Amino acid sequence: MKNIVVLISGSGSNLQAIIDATANNPHCRVVGVLSNKESAFGLERARKAGIETAAIDHTQFDSRLDFDNALIKQIDLWQADLVVLAGFMRILTDQFVQHYSGRLLNIHPSLLPKYKGTNTHQRALDAGDTEHGCTVHFVSEELDGGAAIIQAATPIEQRDDVDSLIKKVHQLEHKIYPIAVSWFASNRITLNGDRVYLDGSPLGETGYIYRA
Ligand code: GAR
Repeated sequence: MKNIVVLISGSGSNLQAIIDATANNPHCRVVGVLSNKESAFGLERARKAGIETAAIDHTQFDSRLDFDNALIKQIDLWQADLVVLAGFMRILTDQFVQHYSGRLLNIHPSLLPKYKGTNTHQRALDAGDTEHGCTVHFVSEELDGGAAIIQAATPIEQRDDVDSLIKKVHQLEHKIYPIAVSWFASNRITLNGDRVYLDGSPLGETGYIYRA
């Protein structure tokens, strides 16, 4: 049984998708949810599901490293086998990333390697892209730069704007994040260098392509 700790900053809709999907999974369970914001709605979702929560306010720390060390302390108390970033809006130090190397996942709202960083939906629209989407990846020291596990795309239509794209991408996120978590929990994916292997076969730069 693998222990999952989820880090959030906001609504936690991806957290909810993972809670729902793991409820009957014999290989893993969410043991703790950690937020840098006490007011994050995701903490309520966790409490409702009977999951332990903690809030660690980043503004109370002098440096990123001090904050990250406080996160590590809490996450390790929960004996995490897997750490899942689900809308956790803090940049993590290399020390944090290395501490959880190979067991730290993130979801990013773009078809990586496109649009690392913020404002991904607007940037996809501005570029006139015909599709947009999301990617689950292992976290490396480079922001949004780790090896991709799974990616899902949706067409950009004439009438789409940022809000409609956020909705479409969220729906895809709620499909692919639980898949990536369950693959990890049942030892189907491994990270070797900067390559992800699924059932022993190497995945390409964009990871496994999810088809609805
Ligand atoms: C998600 O869309 C996720 O891709 C994004 O934050 C949102 C959180 O939503 N993450 C990032 O932008 C990280 N760079 P949620 O709180 O409803 O799961």
